[in-house]
Amino acid sequence: MTQRHKQHLSNSELLEETVRISLLAGKLLKDRLFTDFSVDHKGKVDLVTEVDRAAQDLIKQEILLKYPDHGILGEEDLDIQGSGEFLWIVDPLDGTTNYAHRFPVFSVSIAVTKDKDVLCGAVYNPVSEELFKATRGGGASLNSLPIKVSETGRLDDSLLGTGFPYNIRETAQTNLDHFRDFALRAQDIRRCGSAALDLSFVACGRLDGFWELGLKQWDIAAGALIVREAGGVTTDFEGSDLGMDGSRVLASNGLIHDEMMQVLQKQG
Ligand code: IPD
Ligand code: CA
Ligand code: CA
Repeated sequence: MTQRHKQHLSNSELLEETVRISLLAGKLLKDRLFTDFSVDHKGKVDLVTEVDRAAQDLIKQEILLKYPDHGILGEEDLDIQGSGEFLWIVDPLDGTTNYAHRFPVFSVSIAVTKDKDVLCGAVYNPVSEELFKATRGGGASLNSLPIKVSETGRLDDSLLGTGFPYNIRETAQTNLDHFRDFALRAQDIRRCGSAALDLSFVACGRLDGFWELGLKQWDIAAGALIVREAGGVTTDFEGSDLGMDGSRVLASNGLIHDEMMQVLQKQG
């Protein structure tokens, strides 16, 4: 890499742009929610709407206008390598199934990484107008007020979040076994339909824990940072560092992490 491509951008500068672009894309999602948008199938139950693509186009344009050498990885077939050290990881619409049914729970999720480290991230729900954000080492906030994870100490008293993979009809990893186990152990479980929001809800204490299989980088990059910066813990099901691997995601307030791991390991 040449010196020309080394940029000195602070995490807070990057977060400011991340937030600005998330708000713009969120407005687009909200404005189009009750329009007659087209819906295509990517798989048997995996949908994509023209609004997913429009939001991603907007996000891409805005990033490249300001940072033409940055890379961008986005869910809807977007993979720009870039010539610099920064990579943006984008889910333009997390909660597409909800969106296609006009069920008003969805978000925009954007993170900026450098050498695989997530520097900052934002998750925005334009319907509730809730903006979750964090910078590495700088804490997490909801609509600019600091947030922290819950203090629930026992799985028995915990409200958990989860989700099911799109290939549930084809895979052995359905998550139904874990769902059953947690349903018998936790206070209750929610399936909100946006993993980025699930993680943000762990960060602000609405959920005490969250687990899911088969997620992708764009589902977790921003949300997992927000959990950690709010004092929570993110690992795989065995307690190892999550990195960017969404295949087995466990996030919690830290206090119920071991109990959750024990339940997850029951299935191997
Ligand atoms: C989905 C949502 C959902 C989760 C799925 C994801 P999408 O993302 O995050 O909550 O259960 O596994 O794929 O497709 O709506 O961006
Ligand atoms: Ca997603
Ligand atoms: Ca998506």
